[in-house]
Amino acid sequence: MPYSLSNIKMKNYLTASSSPLTESVERLRCCYEAGFSSAILKSAAAYVRAGTGHGRKVVYTEDGYYADASFEREILTLEEGIALYKTALDVCPSDMLLIPSVSASSLAPEEWLQSCKQFASCGAALLQLDFFYLGTLSHDSTFFEKLRQLLTVLGSNLDCSIMPKLNLNFEPNQICKLLQECGVKTVSLLDSMREDPDRDLGLHKGTTSYFGNRQLPWTIEYLKAAKRCGLETCAGGGVVSKKDVDTLLSLGADMVQTASYVLCRDFTAVQDLLEPTLWSCSHSEILKHNPWCDYKDGEPCEKCGACALHKTSMQATNAESLISACMGGLL
Ligand SMILES: Cc1cc2nc3c(=O)[nH]c(=O)nc-3n(C[C@H](O)[C@H](O)[C@H](O)COP(=O)(O)O)c2cc1C
Repeated sequence: MPYSLSNIKMKNYLTASSSPLTESVERLRCCYEAGFSSAILKSAAAYVRAGTGHGRKVVYTEDGYYADASFEREILTLEEGIALYKTALDVCPSDMLLIPSVSASSLAPEEWLQSCKQFASCGAALLQLDFFYLGTLSHDSTFFEKLRQLLTVLGSNLDCSIMPKLNLNFEPNQICKLLQECGVKTVSLLDSMREDPDRDLGLHKGTTSYFGNRQLPWTIEYLKAAKRCGLETCAGGGVVSKKDVDTLLSLGADMVQTASYVLCRDFTAVQDLLEPTLWSCSHSEILKHNPWCDYKDGEPCEKCGACALHKTSMQATNAESLISACMGGLL
């Protein structure tokens, strides 16, 4: 079966979600070797990092994991994003589509347009629009009017296609209808679930998300709404097995995206989610690369938030087995 996104042909249906998997050229190279047909780059926004944000912390639980990080930790500056895209274009063969992801702190069209135009001028054919950090804005009628205006301006001023990424702050039918009315053809589903877990875990309120299979029913609901509005979808969020991939495809997903399934294992796990006829048969050593970071010395790094084990008092006794149990739960 032929797969495509925004009229660009793909060798298979599997996309690497914007995440630590796509945060560096080394890991994008691993995405390619592992068999992904496309990769959505880590989101970038036009801002200056003030150095006041906190780092990333990952805590594994029985049904997935929590990741906590500030905007400054998760969002690349525009310069970093452009440099990542340009270097990755040189390093990754052209049969893996690279999709830059753009973010901004408001709905002001000029803020988005400036960033989108820079990626487009580097050759991007399709851009993801990451609305996650606008989730804190109140979604009243003014918000939707501004969103409508933003999508209309981007649609008429860019030479490339746009793919807004939805999150749980939107009502699925309402937002999909709005996208359709603004002439958007493709949608990316679904960003993580903001939760405030037990204070014991030492995670910040307001910047912590849950990742795991509890998300899948939401992804399915947004996918159904998108298909009702005739939108092409790159759907994921909560995929923990090939069966979940098949469910999304059977419900009309044009492409399936994944991050955590691979982050909780390594790049060899990509093949679990592909039909054997679509395997790329790479046995490259680099598939064992840490999907969270590029640190090589075998010791936990200070930066990625997942190398070092974060123990709660409850977990401290048997943290290793908790991680294996969690990974098993994701299988
Ligand atoms: C640590 C981390 C960072 C992420 N950063 C981004 C990002 O910069 N932009 C984005 O659109 N999504 C980001 N995501 C969300 C993923 O793209 C994806 O929507 C989410 O992980 C749910 O999919 P999964 O269940 O396959 O992990 C991030 C996810 C993780 C785990």
